[in-house]
Amino acid sequence: MTTSSAPGKIILFGEHAVVYGHPALAVPVTQVHADVEVADSSRTGIWIDAPDVNLHAELNTLPSDHPIASVIHNLFFLSRVSPFPSLNIKITSKIPVASGLGSGAAVTVALARALSMHINYAMTDEQVNAFAYEIEKLHHGTPSGIDNTVITYAKPVYFVKGQAIETFQVAKPFTIVIGDTGISAPTKESVGDVRKLWEADKTKWEDVFDKVGAIAQEARNSIERGKMKELGELMNQNHALLQSMTASSPELDKLVSVARNAGALGAKLSGGGRGGNMIALVEPNQAEAVAKSLLEAGAKNTIITQVS
Ligand code: PMV
Repeated sequence: MTTSSAPGKIILFGEHAVVYGHPALAVPVTQVHADVEVADSSRTGIWIDAPDVNLHAELNTLPSDHPIASVIHNLFFLSRVSPFPSLNIKITSKIPVASGLGSGAAVTVALARALSMHINYAMTDEQVNAFAYEIEKLHHGTPSGIDNTVITYAKPVYFVKGQAIETFQVAKPFTIVIGDTGISAPTKESVGDVRKLWEADKTKWEDVFDKVGAIAQEARNSIERGKMKELGELMNQNHALLQSMTASSPELDKLVSVARNAGALGAKLSGGGRGGNMIALVEPNQAEAVAKSLLEAGAKNTIITQVS
């Protein structure tokens, strides 16, 4: 049997503007992960068991654009495996779907790694990342590539679309509380709506994206110098710019202000927005109190994670 696991992720700064070439910061969230087991099967066919999404099927009964089927077909095409071996594939994931935690990219990365190792087709991290980006493009339109990158490398990433990946140093580990609105919001839609705004007034929105990019750059400097107050303030500024892009929602705004009032140093939505998750930067001893306030204000779930 061959196994592989990939973490969730959150975007700390720069979502949406990153699609237009500006920098963004993202970090892995190891508390949630996607796990894949691949084993030879005595039954003919490729049998997929993914209980979290209620999927129990043979590969050929799935439409070829099904997210899991497309990973398997594309990987076998790339590795030139023919005929397909008989396999049992088990996929489990505790990463909430469509909430900005990278569930799709994590399943793709874990599945590509487990399958390729099982058939002795060696893939470097660069190849896994490029493969996962192609799969993201199939399902998400015009993704920047930040999700597959941070999940493949499982490290903090300073990401600029089309450029070599850079990680950054965390001078002083810091604590983030993630609050889930429980509202599932497809990233493709919010990215599409931001694109419409941009198409209608490129000068205006490029100025906004420039500001977001400058915040991401400054945030990297704050993290590298361990300046947490500055970092919190930058989160607040980034959230305001995301609101102007229509990426927020009443539920996200509520959780963001609840976190600030409960003592967070700063808070913002994270990822595509409209629903999904928000994040709050907190002193470690405030993390539990902020998480509790978020739950009382309607968050469906919270995760406390340390970035180091
Ligand atoms: O919703 P998520 O976490 O998959 O993040 C989307 C981030 C965007 O910048 C909005 C889109 C992208 O492809 O980078």
